[in-house]
Amino acid sequence: MTDSPAPKSNLAVAAAEDADIPSIVALWERCELTRPWNEPRADIARAQQGPSSAVLVGRDGNAIVATVMVGHDGHRGWVYYVAVDPDQHNKGYGRAIMAAAEDWLRERSIEKLQLLVRADNTRVQAFYETLDYDQQERVVFAKWLDGRPMTP
Ligand SMILES: CC(C)(COP(=O)(O)OP(=O)(O)OC[C@H]1O[C@@H](n2cnc3c(N)ncnc32)[C@H](O)[C@@H]1OP(=O)(O)O)[C@@H](O)C(=O)NCCC(=O)NCCS
Repeated sequence: MTDSPAPKSNLAVAAAEDADIPSIVALWERCELTRPWNEPRADIARAQQGPSSAVLVGRDGNAIVATVMVGHDGHRGWVYYVAVDPDQHNKGYGRAIMAAAEDWLRERSIEKLQLLVRADNTRVQAFYETLDYDQQERVVFAKWLDGRPMTP
């Protein structure tokens, strides 16, 4: 196991509250993480409903500068909506919010974290590699359970 470098940032991370939702959605839109078929407010509401998932926000002062949606299915942990304010990149906030998601999962005895990266999001792959994530050869299958045709 390699030692993690000393953190570059002192991001204050906490579970999202209802008052944070407009800022969270605005950040996701700025980061181009929203899709027409995923209603972000509904995603947040579902993630906050039960004990197996959460939305974490990272603050620099009062401003929300980073987010992650983290959850587990009892077997694996997953993250979604990993986002850092585009004006605040390369300050260590991405590393810090991912560390918070990893801790959230460790606290629930989840041993492995997986995440999906869109093939066209090549820039972010180097970020995850820097954080010691390995690319795995898997084929992802998906199906909308209401019968609608598959989205891209
Ligand atoms: C990916 C993202 C979260 C990174 O956030 P960030 O705050 O800029 O990242 P950090 O400053 O914490 O960088 C952590 C490390 O990754 C490296 N890194 C970050 N982005 C990188 C990139 N595009 N290419 C190469 N390395 C990168 C940094 O150099 C840093 O290395 P170091 O700690 O050894 O110095 C941010 O670019 C982002 O929000 N992107 C848009 C949304 C997105 O694509 N999310 C992921 C969806 S799967």
